[in-house]
Amino acid sequence: MNVSDALASRITCRAFLPDPVREETVREIVDKARYAPSGGNLQPWHLFALSGNALADLLADVAEKMLETPRGEVPEYRVYPQDLKDPYEARRFKCGEDLYASIGIERADKRGRIAQFQRNFKFFGAPVGLFVYLDRTMGPPQWADTGMFLQSIMLVAREYGLHTCPQEAWAQWHKTVSSHLNPPADWMLFCGMGLGYMDKEAQVNTLRTDRASVDEIATFKFR
Ligand SMILES: Cc1cc2nc3c(=O)[nH]c(=O)nc-3n(C[C@H](O)[C@H](O)[C@H](O)COP(=O)(O)O)c2cc1C
Repeated sequence: MNVSDALASRITCRAFLPDPVREETVREIVDKARYAPSGGNLQPWHLFALSGNALADLLADVAEKMLETPRGEVPEYRVYPQDLKDPYEARRFKCGEDLYASIGIERADKRGRIAQFQRNFKFFGAPVGLFVYLDRTMGPPQWADTGMFLQSIMLVAREYGLHTCPQEAWAQWHKTVSSHLNPPADWMLFCGMGLGYMDKEAQVNTLRTDRASVDEIATFKFR
């Protein structure tokens, strides 16, 4: 698989098969992805990979807490700017509408939407859950670096026939996640990521999001 094929075939997978992924495979993926670049070669990220009982225990803990506090814990960072302006707000809205439409959940079906969102906290059935942390003192450049690390994992995963689901939603459960992982106190959770084999029969995985055109996102001055 070449890079273009990996890019074209990577989508956010929201239904995984239960088939396990071996630890060695996850290690190989991380071994390749760690060559992602970072300003000053800081490599500001740290990854936790969970499967088996370690993952099941964490998910059970979150599920139990969700009964009492369905909205989770106050996230350590704001996922989107407070007043998201267009075209970003329009894109975000469409992305949500397209997702729910792809699985037949109506706009008025608040419960259906919440239930779909809460599948985040089962990693959408993925057998492997990844969590990425970075030091709290890091700023936007290092967060961007961490994004490159995440994208590298997602692309290398394709080479192994695997799919991924990056999940900022996990920021809502950072305290519970950290109580299982015991990271140093000065690290903060950026996001989770489901990793596994895609359930190709699942309707939710038929969603293909659109993108702004090259001319909308890039300006060329070649003379
Ligand atoms: C850093 C990051 C966090 C994301 N968090 C979530 C999430 O919590 N839940 C979810 O269902 N999708 C999440 N997504 C998926 C995006 O909605 C998705 O990437 C976008 O709509 C484009 O679709 P595609 O990945 O299928 O190309 C996240 C993506 C990124 C890059």
